[in-house]
Amino acid sequence: MKVIVFLFIILGSLYALPPEFDRQRYELGEKVFEKKCQECHVKSMPIDILMKNFIEENNETLKLKAPTGNEISYRLKSQIGSKEDIEFQLHEAMDFVIDYLYNPNKAKTICLEGVIKHFDTMPSMKGKITKEEIKDVTFFLYFLEGFNGVNKFYHDETEF
Ligand code: HEC
Repeated sequence: MKVIVFLFIILGSLYALPPEFDRQRYELGEKVFEKKCQECHVKSMPIDILMKNFIEENNETLKLKAPTGNEISYRLKSQIGSKEDIEFQLHEAMDFVIDYLYNPNKAKTICLEGVIKHFDTMPSMKGKITKEEIKDVTFFLYFLEGFNGVNKFYHDETEF
């Protein structure tokens, strides 16, 4: 019996989401993504396939128009602030995306050089999206990769 309880605690902690996660907001952000970003950004693809496409195949296999949502998710968390403080990192990520969407400039990129070189600078979305919508879509992007149990794409907590 003790062993079973212990197993439940271990499994439970593996699938536990941080208190900052809010499923309603995540789903709201996902809708914004589908409506305003998905014409250029694919939501998610396995990283090994993406890296092969960008680094070895010059984007000729997948012919992607922009970095994928899960790549952006990973880069937001690894390039901006510290993941030790999720609330603060989320704020900083939102500030970055608001600034980037209104005033895009590849000089500010958080993406890998080997990925970003395949694209022209993203067109500005000034007038096409509100700050609130950008905050929601960033919330979605932030949690898209690296948190078990958030979505069907991601299954390895150690990668976060
Ligand atoms: C018309 C096509 C298009 C649309 C629509 C679009 N993007 Fe992009 N986006 C791009 C391209 C191309 C890049 C890569 C070049 C760059 O970084 O400027 C990019 C890059 C990005 C980056 C990474 C910036 C960097 O270089 O670090 C973020 C974040 C981003 N987009 C978010 C969004 C979000 C959120 C939306 C929807 C609200 C969106 N984009 C809509 C084309 C688009």
